Amino acid sequence: MADFASNPVDDAFYKPADSFFKGSSSALTYDDVTLATLFTDVLPKDTDPATTLAPSIHLPLPIVSADMDTVTEANMAIAMARCGGMGLIHCNMTEKQQLSEVSRVKNNVHGLIQDPIRVHPEQTIGEILELIETKQFSFRTFPVVDPKGRLIGLLPGHVVRPRYAARSVAEAMTPRNQIETIREADLGRDPIDAADRFFSENIGLHKLLVVSGDDTLRGLFTISDIERIRQEKRSNLKPARDSQFRLLCGVGVSVVRKTDGAIDQDRLLGHVAALVERGADVVAVSTAHGHSTGVGEAVRLIREHFKDLPIIAGNVTSAAGVEYLADCGASIVKVGQGPGSICTTRIVAGVGIPQLTALYVASQAAKKRGVTLLADGGITKSGDIVKALTLAEGVICGGLLAGCPEAPGQVLEINGKVFKQYRGMGSLAAMSAGSAARYGHSAQDTARKVAAEGVEALKELSQPLDRVMSQLAGGIQSGMGYLGARTLPELRAKARYIQVSAAGQKESAPHDIIEVKTGN
Ligand code: XMP
Repeated sequence: MADFASNPVDDAFYKPADSFFKGSSSALTYDDVTLATLFTDVLPKDTDPATTLAPSIHLPLPIVSADMDTVTEANMAIAMARCGGMGLIHCNMTEKQQLSEVSRVKNNVHGLIQDPIRVHPEQTIGEILELIETKQFSFRTFPVVDPKGRLIGLLPGHVVRPRYAARSVAEAMTPRNQIETIREADLGRDPIDAADRFFSENIGLHKLLVVSGDDTLRGLFTISDIERIRQEKRSNLKPARDSQFRLLCGVGVSVVRKTDGAIDQDRLLGHVAALVERGADVVAVSTAHGHSTGVGEAVRLIREHFKDLPIIAGNVTSAAGVEYLADCGASIVKVGQGPGSICTTRIVAGVGIPQLTALYVASQAAKKRGVTLLADGGITKSGDIVKALTLAEGVICGGLLAGCPEAPGQVLEINGKVFKQYRGMGSLAAMSAGSAARYGHSAQDTARKVAAEGVEALKELSQPLDRVMSQLAGGIQSGMGYLGARTLPELRAKARYIQVSAAGQKESAPHDIIEVKTGN
């Protein structure tokens, strides 16, 4: 078959990575470069953007949410994994809290309310009405449990009325022997399907209670949730799961030091062991400067004790940095110093390398050492992801996801617009909340004068994560289609680059129009 991808005129302008980056005298980032289109026989819908970051970390979509305290806690990590990516739970919280966030992700069953509001038999209907009023609950049906959490009845919504205020829950509830339930163990691999079948088979029932072997209440499904999930066909994203069909979950670990400055080995190893026991799939040692003794020591220590655990380490922007972390035992290396939307490292410290050049340099060492790369920071649109994926196995996004309802933090209303907080982990506020070590300071330092390397900001509230991820997936697949690449390795092999002038950058975005509707 003719090689439609090759033409000597094109070859003189559009260069493969080696000649393009080695031939360039400046450091380049996403907007400096564009990818040349190539002959294609692949439709975007037939491309597969899946990536393997480590043997046990296979992501249908190569996107990871940043381990930042305004980006990833359990809700975000659950939503990310459901969409085919993965969340890295941040470590600006106590170790105990972090363990429970990991458990929430690993025990999550889509559609199952795992911690339903329970009531007790001795309460009165009046008290339940008060509870509904103060907590603004939109539902009125409650499982009834004994002090050990075992199911003893169901309080149906139609009896939760002021006329019965003085009556007890025990009098009004449907007793245990009349409630249909399902054993947790019988939910099988597809709990939504099991719940869906139950609601079809049991006309008129709107709640399905899930119990353990000893009848402890484990959760509940509602018919409306199940019907909504069934209708959500718009999301063609496949979840990222482990070998036991649980959602994948990554965790940032902080490297705690003793007063003499040495790593508190027992504490670090004890915490990693507890995370692994809860099912964490990968741990991340995230710092501003990964090519350093401290990070190397921590990675080496974890590797020594957890031979098969995937470890993410960073951040670096040099080949030597990648090799160092790989030699210490990292499986995945984060690349990016100062590209983040909330970063001020380049301004404050005068260091850092624009992202595409950093990725190219890092990719040379990654190939040699057999580690994978995550392009971390500076991604503002799906086209940036496509460019990053020509040199890395995945991307980490912070700002792009921080406005989603699934990100931690309250929605703020300012002048009629709604926002969510987004702050750099090197901002003073985040450092005093725990992330100082990531920037080479101690928590006490933050009270004194240290140079913050991040800012505190707001992001406009965006669409829910599944919609944002669908848009990003669509963009990635579109880019793959333009390059005739069915898979990411093909994208990497085929990519041809050319630098864009300032006028070319202007031409690349909508221009000379009055925009009335954005693309999404
Ligand atoms: P984006 O561009 O996605 O970047 O918002 C997220 C990434 O930025 C890094 N990060 C920081 N870098 N100062 C920095 O120099 C900071 O305060 C800071 N906080 C986060 C981090 O790598 C994250 O994934």
